[in-house]
Amino acid sequence: MSKKITIIGDGAMATVSALLLENKGYSVTIWGAFADYTAEMIQTRENSRYLPGYKLPDAIKLTSESDRAFRDVDFVINAVPTQYVRTVWSRLADALPAGLPIASLSKGIETDTLLRPTQIITDVLSPLGKQERSLACISGPSVADELAKCLPATVCAASDDADFAKELQETFNTHWFRVYTNSDLLGVELAGATKNVIALAAGMLDGLQAGINAKSALLSRGLAEITRLGLAMGASQETFFGISGVGDLATTCFSPTGRNRTCGEQLGRGRKLDDVLDAIPGIVEGVPTTKSVLQLSEKFKIEMPITEALNMVLFQGLDPLEGISKLMSRGLKAEQIR
Ligand code: 13P
Repeated sequence: MSKKITIIGDGAMATVSALLLENKGYSVTIWGAFADYTAEMIQTRENSRYLPGYKLPDAIKLTSESDRAFRDVDFVINAVPTQYVRTVWSRLADALPAGLPIASLSKGIETDTLLRPTQIITDVLSPLGKQERSLACISGPSVADELAKCLPATVCAASDDADFAKELQETFNTHWFRVYTNSDLLGVELAGATKNVIALAAGMLDGLQAGINAKSALLSRGLAEITRLGLAMGASQETFFGISGVGDLATTCFSPTGRNRTCGEQLGRGRKLDDVLDAIPGIVEGVPTTKSVLQLSEKFKIEMPITEALNMVLFQGLDPLEGISKLMSRGLKAEQIR
């Protein structure tokens, strides 16, 4: 029996997910928050802002009406930038049927609350008595423009509910998109969020032409610090060393078109953050998430020098070159020499 799936969000990942699932014969609806833009996509059958050049087949339904989003749906995909998850799900909550499972594609940590995307959804639904449902996240090295070309890629579907993770695996898996399952929802979601912070710093090194040695050092020390945080929060080390950890870290730090790396590169070239963000289509998740990760490092008393230096560059006017010098001249500790 063909499944019905609704995707919440109209960004690049929402659109490539819709294309993949429609191509597998599922009935797919995209819900967009902005009625005018949804109407434009219905008219042109293209997501010209976030995934230009790819025709949306007529079978993909588009709506911005909450009560049409969940009709007879088997499960829902959250593909909204992290800092908008709360607003969007507050708007959708009344129309959301009891028990309908939700899988999230968002990669960030909400500022102030320090919640992961699936936790934000629970936080919105709990006061309404609507939190009783399976939640999952799907994360891994998955740059949208490569997925749109059906280039080989892998992700993890992570959930406390093994049956839902398996259902997501079977639903998304295809000959060019391999889906693994993982029970470490916390780790997979946290790794996906924190790698964006390191990718901003990696982009800065590119912009400064700091060299490949510097970038490889950043990736390995970056992985060490996000893993330290993950372990302190209860995630599994294996997750950080797997595709949704080091795998996604590598992709995001090297992707020529990646938003986080590109943002960092422009900052490394001396441009101002606001100007850079204005010029990048979509949301650069790593920017607000840097603030959140820094706060998590303070809360869990974890040393995260790269995150700390990046936060100073992004929000306190530290020159990126000074940031590197700060990191390189830190005191040496025997147990840190690897
Ligand atoms: P960007 O948001 O930096 O484009 O990264 C996408 C991503 O998460 C790749 O897996």
